[in-house]
Amino acid sequence: MTDLSKLDSDLSAAIAAAGDAASLEAIRVSALGKSGSISDLLKSLGGMSPDERREVGPRINGLRDRVQGLISARKAELDAAELEARLTAERVDLSLPPPPRRRGSVHPTMQVMDEMIAVFAEMGFALAEGPDIETDFNNFTALNFPPKHPAREMHDTFWLPEDERGERKLLRTHTSPVQVRVMNRINEKLPSWIAQGQEPPIRIVVPGRTYRSDSDATHTPMFHQMEGLVIDKGIHMGHLKWTLDTFIARFFETPEVTTRFRPHHFPFTEPSAEMDVGCDRSGNEVKIGQGSDWLEILGCGMVHPNILRTCGLDPDVWQGFAFGFGVDRLGILKYGMPDLRDMFASDSRWLSHYGFSAFQAPNPATGLS
Ligand code: DAH
Repeated sequence: MTDLSKLDSDLSAAIAAAGDAASLEAIRVSALGKSGSISDLLKSLGGMSPDERREVGPRINGLRDRVQGLISARKAELDAAELEARLTAERVDLSLPPPPRRRGSVHPTMQVMDEMIAVFAEMGFALAEGPDIETDFNNFTALNFPPKHPAREMHDTFWLPEDERGERKLLRTHTSPVQVRVMNRINEKLPSWIAQGQEPPIRIVVPGRTYRSDSDATHTPMFHQMEGLVIDKGIHMGHLKWTLDTFIARFFETPEVTTRFRPHHFPFTEPSAEMDVGCDRSGNEVKIGQGSDWLEILGCGMVHPNILRTCGLDPDVWQGFAFGFGVDRLGILKYGMPDLRDMFASDSRWLSHYGFSAFQAPNPATGLS
C-alpha cells in the first residue's frame, strides 16, 4: 500500500513550492481530483476489511484534510503576493505634475464682434440678423445695383444653382441686404409668411458672415461684416460722423485716434464716403492712433432715396445713414495679427495664442464684459 507519510511529505513539499495558482491547481487535481492519489486511496477503503479500514481510514482522511488545508493556505499566500505585486506595479505617483489641461478660448472674431456690439449697444443700437443665403433682389437690386450693372461684378459672388423658378440665390456678399429686410414694408416679392420690416425709427447693427471669391493676406472667401443702419426724421451726415468717430475711439480704446472721410461711391448711399483712420505704418505693424498715415476701414453714407422708396418709406419724411465694415479686419488691426487667413485656418496653436478667455474683465471701453 502506498506509503502515506511519503505521499504526505511529497505533497506538502510540492504545495509549498507551487509558484502560482495554476501549478497549485494542478497539484490539487493530482491529489484530490476524481482519480487523484488521495481520492484513489479513499476509494480503496471499500475493499478493506473492517479492521483495516478502522486503522487506515482516519489516516487517509487526516491526510486529505491536511492537504486541503495546505492548499487553501498556499492559495491565500499566492493571492496576497499577486495583489501586492499589482499594487506595486500600478502605484500612482502623486508627486508627478498633472498633464496640462487644454482649455478652449474665445475666437478673436467673436471677441471683437462682442466688443463692437457692446459699443453700439451703449449708443442705443439694437441687433438684427439675416440669412447667409440671399436673393439677388435683397443683395443687389433693392440696394440700387441695377440689373447687369458692372458694380455687381465688383463683388466676386458665389452663386447657387438655379432653383425650380429659375431664380439664382447667392451667398450674401455683404451684410447690407439686412438693411432691406429690416426696412422693407412692401416687398411683394417676399412670401407673406416672411416677417415684414419694422417701422422707423430704426437703429440697428447687423453682425454676420459674408462671402466673396477672394483670397490673399487681407481677404478670405468667408469673412465677417458689421452693418449699421439708422432711419429717423432729420438725420444728417453729422450724426453719421459722430457715431463712427465715437465707435472707433471706443473700439480702439484710445481718444487719440483720428479719422477722415473721403468721398466715394456706393450704389446704396448718396453721398457716400470711406472712412480712414490715422495710423503709423513705419514698422512691420500698423499702429492705430499715432503717426501720419491713413488706413481705409469702412464704407458709409446717407441712405439713397431709391432704397427708401423700394422699401416703402417716403424719402421726404425719413432719412438715414448706413455704414459697413469688416469685423475680422478691424480685429487684426486692434490686436496686431499679421494675416487675415490665420483667423480661419483653425490652427489650435494660433487659437491658443490669440484666443481670449471666456471669463474676462469688463471691456474698459464700455464697462460691459
Ligand atoms: N456693403 C459695403 C461693402 O461690403 C460696405 C458698406 C458701405 C455698407 C457703405 C454700407 C454703406 O451700409 O453705407 O463693401
